[in-house]
Amino acid sequence: MAIRPGGRLKWGVFELCGINILGTGAYLPEIRVDNNMLADLVDTSDEWITTRTGMKQRHMVNGETTWYMGAMASKRAIEDAGIDASEIGLIVDATITSDFYTPSAACVIQREIGAFNAAAFDLNAACTGFVYSLDTAKRFLQTDPNLKYVLVVANEMLSGITDFTDRSSCILFGDGAGAVIIERSEKLYGSWLGANGNLAHALYAKLALNSHPFKSGEPVSIKNSETEFTESPAKLVQHGKDVYKFATNALPTASLNACKSAGIDISEIDVFIPHQANIRIIETASKNLNIPIEKFILNLQNVGNTSGASIPLAFDKFVKNGHIKRGQKCCLVGFGAGSTLGAIVLEY
Ligand code: UT7
Repeated sequence: MAIRPGGRLKWGVFELCGINILGTGAYLPEIRVDNNMLADLVDTSDEWITTRTGMKQRHMVNGETTWYMGAMASKRAIEDAGIDASEIGLIVDATITSDFYTPSAACVIQREIGAFNAAAFDLNAACTGFVYSLDTAKRFLQTDPNLKYVLVVANEMLSGITDFTDRSSCILFGDGAGAVIIERSEKLYGSWLGANGNLAHALYAKLALNSHPFKSGEPVSIKNSETEFTESPAKLVQHGKDVYKFATNALPTASLNACKSAGIDISEIDVFIPHQANIRIIETASKNLNIPIEKFILNLQNVGNTSGASIPLAFDKFVKNGHIKRGQKCCLVGFGAGSTLGAIVLEY
């Protein structure tokens, strides 16, 4: 069998398999909601939001759908990569706010961008969704010699599930999408993924499923006082303090484990692209890891928390403005609902 980019096949698996990020793209809706606009809605202030989160504004949709934002970001990534959409063999879409129960957002994006040779599916890992999806895509590239390019996209319309009467959470979230086109390469790569379902109730939003007409007798009791999900559907519920505690641990844990997987020391990382949940979480991690804060990309002041989209949105912005350069070692690190956590170390 011919040796393809990415190295030698052994037992059907590429021995040395990393990824090359060929192109990036992003989409942010036009409506900008600043802290003062939220202060008109709930009992809060620009000062509280800025000091407690670092956020100044976030973008929100004005009629756009989740798949539309993802398709726009994908088109930009495809153009940036200089490939044809027909060459994409797989689309992995990280989203928790798909417009449909079915079809997947990935299938609708496939139609919109004309990537008709691609398999397509969605992946739900909340704020860690992009990291999970990119790592999944890499594993497809590692085992399928016929796969050339993968589109990994993350698109979120968190405004659609935000409870705008809850001041402790509505000040955080925004909408947007980011995407990358990747191919197999022998560049440095390491990853680590984790989850802890015991914290599932700390951050959740229920779906609005219908009841069927054949119910009878006593309903099955599935109650568990530890993990009761009490809110009505489509509202994001966050126990901020619990998630904060989890997040400050998750960021260093995932980063250190991904560095170990890549065989490098964390001090060798040039740029960290963390999930943009709260500046204090990033500052705490920087202190605990003894890594200068300047190494951490900060985009939350402009876009708020966009869940899975936050890492590819930041990545696209800081690649395009020249901050992230070819050859640099990057650590993409996510944490969030599930709870989920994970990181990827790669050479850009
Ligand atoms: O993306 C998924 C992962 N998500 C995260 O990582 C989010 C993690 N959590 C956080 O970032 C923080 O917990 C929040 C930003 C959500 C909240 O910040 P905090 O410093 O943990 O605030 P708190 O919940 O402890 O509340 C402190 C005080 C309370 O008042 P009292 O009880 O001390 O009188 C709150 O009622 O601040 C009050 N408060 C607010 N005041 C003004 C809560 N939200 C607001 C607000 N404006 N928006």
